Amino acid sequence: MKTLIAANWKMHGDSSWLDKPAQFREIYVKTEADVEILICPPNYLILPMVAACKVGNIHIGAQNCHDKVSGAFTGEMSAAMASDAGASYVIVGHSERRAMFGETNAIVARKAHVVLEAGLIPIICVGEGQEERESGQADEVVGAQLVQSIPHNAKDGAIVIAYEPVWAIGTGLVPTLEDIAAMHDHIRGILSQRLGAAKADAIRILYGGSVKPSNADDILALSDVNGALIGGASLDMQSFAAIASAVKV
Ligand code: PGA
Repeated sequence: MKTLIAANWKMHGDSSWLDKPAQFREIYVKTEADVEILICPPNYLILPMVAACKVGNIHIGAQNCHDKVSGAFTGEMSAAMASDAGASYVIVGHSERRAMFGETNAIVARKAHVVLEAGLIPIICVGEGQEERESGQADEVVGAQLVQSIPHNAKDGAIVIAYEPVWAIGTGLVPTLEDIAAMHDHIRGILSQRLGAAKADAIRILYGGSVKPSNADDILALSDVNGALIGGASLDMQSFAAIASAVKV
């Protein structure tokens, strides 16, 4: 399975950032066939970024989409539009969308459903809050999120899961390696119950939350960690490339 190193630029960047893929490729000269690089820029940069990434063989994704195929939804973008712009992935259920935009597991499942229908790969995000971690409920919370966020058509195409503990996002805090490994194992088990072992084994489970060049080696060396979803450290190509270079192939 190809390790996926994904940048989530959130609401950062402008058209001068169209240079970043070329900057990345200057630093990240390795040609590992086993590492897939993905950048999820703000929506308005998807189309030009696809063109800017052709040379560097970098994939482009959207950070969100609507759960309907089309209609009177001012300000929204459908999965088909993301596909038309050249995106190949869509992040769904990021904790910022769950917390700030009221996205429930049911909405996340519908979004993942339309993403698959559009022929794209949903990156379904799950993760516990700090209190849930401290009170020993992390497994239960993440398990429930996962079960309820996986769409019915998940058997029909590739999906990616991103485990992102909410308390680790943008804080510099990271779970212990043991805790990351245990959660990824737990997630794989749930995927296996839900989708069967063969399908579950082929699903990439990313870790996200304060991934940096200084911790990427250890996190990406964990056997059930199949990549990373990176926020802050993906804005600078030097550090994004350093994280990608931490993948052992
Ligand atoms: P971070 O964000 O790397 O800045 O913690 C990760 C994410 O939100 O996907």
